[in-house]
Order: sequence, then C-alpha cells, then structure tokens
Amino acid sequence: MRAASLFRERFGGEPDGVWLAPGRANLMGEHTDYNDGFVLPFALGQGVTAAAAVAAGPGSAGPGSAGPGSAGPGSAGGRLLTLCSRQEPDTVVEVPLDGLAPGQVTGWAAYPAGVAWALEAAGYPVPGACVAIDSDLPVGAGLSSSAALECATELALTALAGCDVSRADLVTIARRAENEFVGVPTGVMDQSASLRCQAGHALLLDCRSLEVAQVPFDPGAAGAALLLVNTRARHALSDGEYGRRRAQCEEAARRLGVPSLRSITDPAEVDRLDDPVLRRRARHVVADDRRVLEVVALLRSLGDPSPAAGAAAAGSAGSPAGSAGSPAGSAGAGDAYGEIGRLLSQAHASLRDDFEVSWPEADVAVEAALAAGAAGARMIGGGFGGSVLALAPSASLDAVRDAITSAFAERAWTAPEFLSATPADAARQVE
Ligand code: GLA
Repeated sequence: MRAASLFRERFGGEPDGVWLAPGRANLMGEHTDYNDGFVLPFALGQGVTAAAAVAAGPGSAGPGSAGPGSAGPGSAGGRLLTLCSRQEPDTVVEVPLDGLAPGQVTGWAAYPAGVAWALEAAGYPVPGACVAIDSDLPVGAGLSSSAALECATELALTALAGCDVSRADLVTIARRAENEFVGVPTGVMDQSASLRCQAGHALLLDCRSLEVAQVPFDPGAAGAALLLVNTRARHALSDGEYGRRRAQCEEAARRLGVPSLRSITDPAEVDRLDDPVLRRRARHVVADDRRVLEVVALLRSLGDPSPAAGAAAAGSAGSPAGSAGSPAGSAGAGDAYGEIGRLLSQAHASLRDDFEVSWPEADVAVEAALAAGAAGARMIGGGFGGSVLALAPSASLDAVRDAITSAFAERAWTAPEFLSATPADAARQVE
C-alpha cells in the first residue's frame, strides 16, 4: 500500500512510521457480540495503513514546513490532527484536538478523530499529528474497514506519543470511538479481530469476559479453501435495522429474565417468548453461540497432538486428492471441514430466516456456491449488504467462483468481487 508515498506528497516530509490494521471475516457467531456471546473472526491480509508523524509544533500541521495541510486560520496554537486518504483524494481534514467532542467531525474522518478523542478520554496524551491513510479493503463490503481505520490510527497515535497500551485496552478505546464519537452502536468483535488475531488462527472471543484464545485455522492444509465474495450490495435500511436488532435482543433477554442472551444455553428456553419476532431473534443468537463452540471444537480436534489426530491431519495435508478433495466424505481434516461447512450454511439460514438480516445477493451467492460443490457458505457481518464467506474443497474453487458469477449475471446484477481470505496477523507497525 502507498500510505507513505501519499504522506510525502501531501505533507512534504517523511513519516515517523507506517502502521497496518487488517479487516476481518467472521467464521462463526454473527450478532452474538453485543449479546455477550462468542465470536470467531480471523484477520484478513487486506487492511488500512496509516503513515504518520508528529506535527512540527503548535499550529503547524506539516511535519516540517507549511504545506497543503498546514494549519488554517483559527487553529493557531492548538494541536491539530491533519488527515488525508488516498480513497478521498480531494480532501485534507484538519481536526483541532483541544476541546474535541462527539458531533464535531463527520464522514470518514470521524473514525480517526474519534480515536484521538477516546485515547485522551482514557488518559493518554495525543500529539498533534499528520496522518496519511490508504486502504485495500473495499468499503461497505462488511469486512470491517471502519475498525481497521480506527485501529491503524490508534497504533500510529499511541506510537507517536510513546505510549505502550495493551491490546485489550486498545480494543476498548477503539470501540468507544465508534460507539460514542462516530455514534454507531456496534459490538466489540471488529476491533478485537483487527487488534488481536494471529496468522493461521481464528480468534475465539468471549464477548462477556473479553477473554481470547487463538484457534489454529488452516483450511489449506486440509485441501480446503476460503473464498470471500463481496456482493457489492448495500441496502438502504441497514442503519436503523442494526440498532433495531440490538434492541430486540435486549428485550428478549429482559423477558426471559437474563442479563443477556448469552445466559441462555438451552435452545428450548427461547420458546418461552410469546412474541414470534423476539423468539426468532433469540433463537438465532442462542444457536449461533453454540455453533461457534462447535466450530472451535472441530478445529481443535485437528490440532490435537495425539498420534492418531496428528497422522490424520498430516495425511490430509499431504494428499489434496484424498480427504481434501471431498471435505464431507472422508476421515480427519476433511470430515471436520465438511462439518464446519454444514454449520456455515446452517448459520446462513438462521441469519436469513430468524434474524432476517440477509439480502438477495447473499442468498443467491450462497445457493450458487453450494450447488457448485462448496462445503458451506454464509453471509458475514451485520447484514443487509456486504460479503459472503464460502468454504470449498480447493479443487472446486473455480467452479464455485464461476457459479456465483453466472448467477449474478443471469440477474443482471453488478458482478461480485472475489477476495482471498487467508487468516492473517493483527495490526502492527510495518515501516
Ligand atoms: C457489525 C458490527 C459487529 C457485529 C457484526 C454482526 O460488523 O460491527 O460488532 O455486531 O456486525 O456480527
């Protein structure tokens, strides 16, 4: 990515460093995070980079001299956060940091500004700084580009200030930026994924205790592959619907007499809800929490160091034509991935029918993927637009891609975008 070159173009000096924060895909557990439940996301190779430097002094926005980003009238003497983005080529946004409050910054700049605000609210110093942003994550694709923007800025600002902040605290601060400064009532999954994932693993996050565990996740070793499908659809009703789902879940928990739906572990208990809508919402959340733990158990069964499990995993890794070619059919890793695929498809049906957050392009992509040999597929993220995650035998990947492309073409929909999804590392300094 080219954040450093953008920095040089806009600010006329060298950045002090470049920080990268990844987007995420979620293997299992959707709309469970704000119900205190479990999620199992993994970080993507794609993300947001921030090249940043401390501003030269009060009132100066450039790292060395007055440039296109220099402080405007009225800001002299105060700390400024000066922001530019390769995806917004015509704007340089100057955010006065002194007295910064929610509501003062809107649009994309609200995310980095919100992070500066939340860091200060948590007691960390924030210097005046110049930040150049670049991203290879499609916006609006449900891959957490907002959290990646927050987390890249957050690593940059804390490093510039010389602060050592734990990853757990960084998650809390970035989430606060999104909830209270930007004003979006999201859960804690996206920032956790961007800041705490490890390459080759999915992140099991208990959203009640905020404990995390790294779960080995290497579909390639079993001859399987993940495919991310950006359906390029974004539906107008998305905004209010997310908040409405949250409120419905809270109401369901209240009527069931529990602090949150996480406390319900027996699916039959949701039948106590008279209201059919609340019953469906709760059924999804309770079932998805269980599915997360089932997927974790399946993945851990592959990582079992016992000789028998080791031999099964090694065998499938070395023979793509064996269990690898038919995840649903044979022993070991193939079986586990076949089962994970089945759980993915089950989760999609639950999100579509019970939680009612799917959208036509996602349903069609899932059906086409399954018909072309995928082990499973589901919509990911908040819903009403965004991406689908499919799990398929590597040998079927081209067929799955072709089937989805044809299904979209038949309906005269914008062609989908396919992205690779290899579990990658969390946010870090890259230059
Ligand atoms: C969005 C939110 C997350 C989570 C998902 C649904 O991505 O940012 O906190 O609620 O939707 O699982």
